[in-house]
Amino acid sequence: MAVGIKDKAAVVGMGCSKFGERFDCSLEDLMLEAVTEALKDANIEFNDIDAFWFGTYCSGLAGDTFSNRMKSQYKPVTRIENKCCTGTDAFRNACYAVISGACDVAMAIGAEKLKDGGYSGLAIPNVESDRTVPDLSAPAMFAFLGSSYAHKYGLTEKQLRGTLARIAFKNHSNGALNPKAMFQAEVPMKKILESPVIAYPLTLMDCSGVADGCSCAIITRTEDAKKYRNDPMYVKAMQIAAGPAHSERHQSYDFTTVKETCYAAEAAYREAGITEPRNQINLAEVHDCFTVTELTIYEDLLLSERGDGWKDVMRGVFDRGGVLPVNIDGGLKSFGHPIGASGIRMLYEMWLQFHEKAGLRQRENPKLGLTHNMGGTPYSCVAGVTIVGKELG
Ligand code: COA
Repeated sequence: MAVGIKDKAAVVGMGCSKFGERFDCSLEDLMLEAVTEALKDANIEFNDIDAFWFGTYCSGLAGDTFSNRMKSQYKPVTRIENKCCTGTDAFRNACYAVISGACDVAMAIGAEKLKDGGYSGLAIPNVESDRTVPDLSAPAMFAFLGSSYAHKYGLTEKQLRGTLARIAFKNHSNGALNPKAMFQAEVPMKKILESPVIAYPLTLMDCSGVADGCSCAIITRTEDAKKYRNDPMYVKAMQIAAGPAHSERHQSYDFTTVKETCYAAEAAYREAGITEPRNQINLAEVHDCFTVTELTIYEDLLLSERGDGWKDVMRGVFDRGGVLPVNIDGGLKSFGHPIGASGIRMLYEMWLQFHEKAGLRQRENPKLGLTHNMGGTPYSCVAGVTIVGKELG
């Protein structure tokens, strides 16, 4: 079994643009916003960065999308695309590069400009298909989770709606405290409960928005981190699981779990040495592309017992002031989901929280944070789990 990467890489600076309908700026303006903040944070010059991993889903094809705009001078730039895990995978590759000794200082950056398309919802590029797989919108794919979860665990329609509404309320209430979020307002419960259906049982308020945004991280080996700052963020685990579409093809699949998330979580907990995730993790940022996705993720990440996730939601376990806050920055619900930028945006909240810079969202001394993404459908996807910490060990 691999020895893993626990505590071998450290983040020394991070930046994040404001997310939203950024018609006021181009992709390079968004990058500049995030990169400038990260460089200042790490007290480092742009030219001191040895190599770049640039994550984008559909806002460019190759490394020169980044170098043309940011004027990096003949340095290696690798473009990464791994659906909604794109940013997380850029971060993973940059960490592996410094750990290997191939470079000393690396930047992982995720950027996406989606709003200029003039398209409602997320435009998913067509891939080769034999036409036996149904062509569904993202809300329709994830809607199955809602009805199936209610059926399996005996929730009435009112209980399911109440649970999903509570998740939407929580995330929007957190986003109201975040100046970088796209939606920065609390949404009254009545408005959430009355919002129109997009794909039954999911309504508008169950969906994440579509946004533009950019986020980035500067990474070094742990032994070098103190050259840049005394309080880096340590990388404990990074695991990606890409599935064989088992769930898509088997009648045994019951649409209440995402196997890829389970596998990625198990591997990440092993790598980080975590045995009791619910008690050891202080904060989690998870892929709430839809409220119901967040509900099933609690259980797949072992933060709730199977079938108990909805009860934990109603008890306030994952609220800002709860035992284990989830999506304390507002999540995809408040930030929208510029695909390539979301994974590193989640890590940015851990960075703020570890440095006591999260303003009104600040928790008292969090030490261990988890971020999670999944890209694809609940029945066939790529999932990523990253664990970061404030301290070594
Ligand atoms: N949450 C809360 N409010 C939202 C919202 C969301 N997800 N999406 C839009 N709104 C609000 C807008 O602010 C706007 O409010 P206003 O009328 O007060 O200005 C209103 O709803 C309509 O906005 P609009 O941009 O016209 O929405 P839309 O109809 O084009 O798109 C969805 C709404 C739900 C279809 C779109 O947000 C969506 O497809 N989300 C899912 C994205 C997705 O699939 N991501 C990938 C996940 S894996």
